[in-house]
Amino acid sequence: MGVYKPLDPHNLPMKPSSKNPGCFVSKPACACLAVAFFSLALLHLLCCSPSGNHQAAFSPLLRYINTTYSFASPSEPPAGGAGWKSCNYSEGEWVRAPGHARRYNATECNAKESHDCIRNGRPDTGYLDWRWQPSSGCPLPAFDAGAFLSAVRGKHVAFIGDSMARNQAQSLICLLSAASPYRLLYRADDPHKYNFWRYAFPAHDVKVSFYWTPFLVRGRGKPEDDSVRYNYVHLDEPGDRWAADADTIDVAVLAAGHWVLNGAIYYNASEVIGAHNAPPEFGNYTRIGYAWPLHMAYRTAVERLSSDGRPRTLVLATFSPSHFEGNPIDSPTACTKMEPYREGEKELEWIFKEVRDIVYDEAETARAKHGNGGAVRIEVLDVTKLAGMRPDGHPSVYMNRDPFKHGVQEKMFSDCLHFCLPGPVDTFNEILLQLLKKNR
Ligand SMILES: *[C@@H]1O[C@H](CO)[C@@H](O)[C@H](O)[C@H]1NC(C)=O
Ligand SMILES: *[C@@H]1O[C@H](CO)[C@@H](O)[C@H](O)[C@H]1NC(C)=O
Ligand SMILES: *[C@@H]1O[C@H](CO)[C@@H](O)[C@H](O)[C@H]1NC(C)=O
Ligand SMILES: *[C@@H]1O[C@H](CO)[C@@H](O)[C@H](O)[C@H]1NC(C)=O
Ligand SMILES: *[C@@H]1O[C@H](CO)[C@@H](O)[C@H](O)[C@H]1NC(C)=O
Repeated sequence: MGVYKPLDPHNLPMKPSSKNPGCFVSKPACACLAVAFFSLALLHLLCCSPSGNHQAAFSPLLRYINTTYSFASPSEPPAGGAGWKSCNYSEGEWVRAPGHARRYNATECNAKESHDCIRNGRPDTGYLDWRWQPSSGCPLPAFDAGAFLSAVRGKHVAFIGDSMARNQAQSLICLLSAASPYRLLYRADDPHKYNFWRYAFPAHDVKVSFYWTPFLVRGRGKPEDDSVRYNYVHLDEPGDRWAADADTIDVAVLAAGHWVLNGAIYYNASEVIGAHNAPPEFGNYTRIGYAWPLHMAYRTAVERLSSDGRPRTLVLATFSPSHFEGNPIDSPTACTKMEPYREGEKELEWIFKEVRDIVYDEAETARAKHGNGGAVRIEVLDVTKLAGMRPDGHPSVYMNRDPFKHGVQEKMFSDCLHFCLPGPVDTFNEILLQLLKKNR
């Protein structure tokens, strides 16, 4: 199908996972236990490359993926879209829809190995049998690759942000690749990290890129080099790699939040303005928390993408919560749920709501400043609720290949943050498509 030949993952050099992740360690004095807990859980995921390049037999359950499956979508909005202009996809419930998410083979579209749950031997596949039903009554049609490529014909779609932005970007490549020839234009740095890449879909003159920028703005230290201990973040400067390409970007999807919870030392120009969760030797810096830096990071990024007169669509994705529910976090049962939460079953953590609301605030601020209806269109892609209801959709211990080949270990790292590909993150792109089709 696609003209791009996926790299053979077994020929790629694997980074040994570092024994000491060397990330920020939450201070015992940290007033907010929730932050500390999530920080610890996230350290491993955000900072360390997964290990495990051993060969293994594919799970027999691979056969459950049916790439030719075509989901009977709920009826499309009336032509012209007039009827659904005000659809709000943020509230709703997951309803069973057998096969809905069985749409591609992540190995073939070269997804990150640690998200390729089926390849890694995840035996249950029920997490692929759900679709999101918005409570507004609007239908959310299954992803339509042709419609997406038509909606962004001739455009450059850039995902900018952290590893959740990458998770969504890779999902989009996989969803589109099932329908259209494509090729890799570049993949920079360590190819195993998937940090900077671009694909072309020549039939529609579409390009899709990912720019690893976990703070959206310029980050030195750990974002550039895993072996560095700290994050030094320049709140006044957009991430340099995406900013250098900004003149080519027509649609930007921004997603960040997890790294600010972990902590950093923040700068304005050359001056330190404060720190969050910093190690003791930086204890003399003003503690500025995570909320204000996140506001500023979004503001700087959005400003760069709205102030040059180029028509653009900016999509601000909200926070996608993690589900480290077992304790300790490195037990094999850190996240083992097999079904979505039902409405009311589990309240969203306040901290996740707060981080979501920052994105809404910054979208509002930007609209007020740059006017809605001007060259720049600003949309919020609110995934917090729907993602928060999917504890079953994470790789869990299947972030590594055949995790139980030596039996159950006492300590096993789990990914309870990113989503399996295919998986619930494909729904982010179903909503993205509806946002891009709006007002056309
Ligand atoms: C996915 O693709 C890989 C590589 O082509 C293949 O080995 C594997 O069997 C495929 N899985 C399914 C479920 O088709
Ligand atoms: C895959 O889906 C197609 C189309 O819905 C169907 O005809 C076919 O039987 C399915 N294959 C399997 C193995 O389920
Ligand atoms: C969706 O509706 C909720 C309230 O139900 C509102 O707070 C939010 O702003 C709306 N989201 C979008 C993206 O319009
Ligand atoms: C940085 O400093 C400048 C000049 O004082 C100020 O205008 C700007 O708001 C500051 N930005 C941040 C992110 O603190
Ligand atoms: C805080 O401590 C560091 C390391 O000792 C030092 O370099 C820095 O100048 C101090 N900053 C302030 C604001 O005192």
